[in-house]
Amino acid sequence: MAFRSPLINVMASAATKAARGLKRDFGEVENLQVSKKGPSDFVSVADQKAEDVLFAELSRVRPEFGFLMEERGIVEGSDKSHRWIVDPLDGTTNFLHGLPQFAISIGVERDGDVIAGVIYNPITDEMYWAEKGNGAYCNDRRLRVAARKDLKECVIATGVPFHGKGDHLRFLKELGLVMREVAGIRRFGAASLDLAFVASGRFDGFWETDLQPWDIAAGIILVREAGGFVTDQRGAKKVLNAPEIVAGNEIVHEKLRRLIERAGLPPKRAKKPAEPAPAAE
Ligand code: IPD
Ligand code: CA
Ligand code: CA
Ligand code: CA
Repeated sequence: MAFRSPLINVMASAATKAARGLKRDFGEVENLQVSKKGPSDFVSVADQKAEDVLFAELSRVRPEFGFLMEERGIVEGSDKSHRWIVDPLDGTTNFLHGLPQFAISIGVERDGDVIAGVIYNPITDEMYWAEKGNGAYCNDRRLRVAARKDLKECVIATGVPFHGKGDHLRFLKELGLVMREVAGIRRFGAASLDLAFVASGRFDGFWETDLQPWDIAAGIILVREAGGFVTDQRGAKKVLNAPEIVAGNEIVHEKLRRLIERAGLPPKRAKKPAEPAPAAE
């Protein structure tokens, strides 16, 4: 039985509680109140209710930690070195279309470094979790990134820029460069789970432009603790606020990074969370 630290237990139990509402609402998606944050950037009451539960639960058990949340933004804590990074519903578009690929994602940042993460898909009941130095797990199963080295055998995940967001032509260039080298490309629509799938070896690699810290915080530590590499498009490890993220085992990560590098530099981030200057990761 894998040993879960008190910190992981706190995160897993908050995610389980918040997931109850998501599961209920998933069956009733037509009746959900939905609003738009941008041209195709939706938020539903389900996102907000889940975030309320996570905020209440996590602040009850660690009242001193700060928060960076997708919907509420930043809440300062008395402990300036720790904060929760929360995406209450990653994969909102999937959720609203009745597609069962979405998750709650919670990361813990300590002085700019992600030290723990939990990603929970309530539909499959897969709880991914990792803590620095202690490995990565799905429920009680230890995770390891895939060992494939030849891109011709690899399935690589990515994200397609939403309508009105990102540089679509540049993305198509990246896609063209990658798709002619690999076995297959997938776009499942929840970045946290894309990274969890890299950690578990389902995907051999993943790249995406313009993600936000809450999309990737927990996934970064999962992939690293599963023996994989996660960097920005230039190979820098400080990736939480980077414009582009690349993940995979050591070999696939570098091959993928070099391929997308040929498409040129990523555009400036469409939306940058207002947050204090990040410390070194
Ligand atoms: C989105 C998902 C998606 C990614 C988008 C994100 P949200 O998060 O992670 O896979 O391509 O860029 O915004 O809005 O569903 O939490
Ligand atoms: Ca969103
Ligand atoms: Ca997200
Ligand atoms: Ca979200």
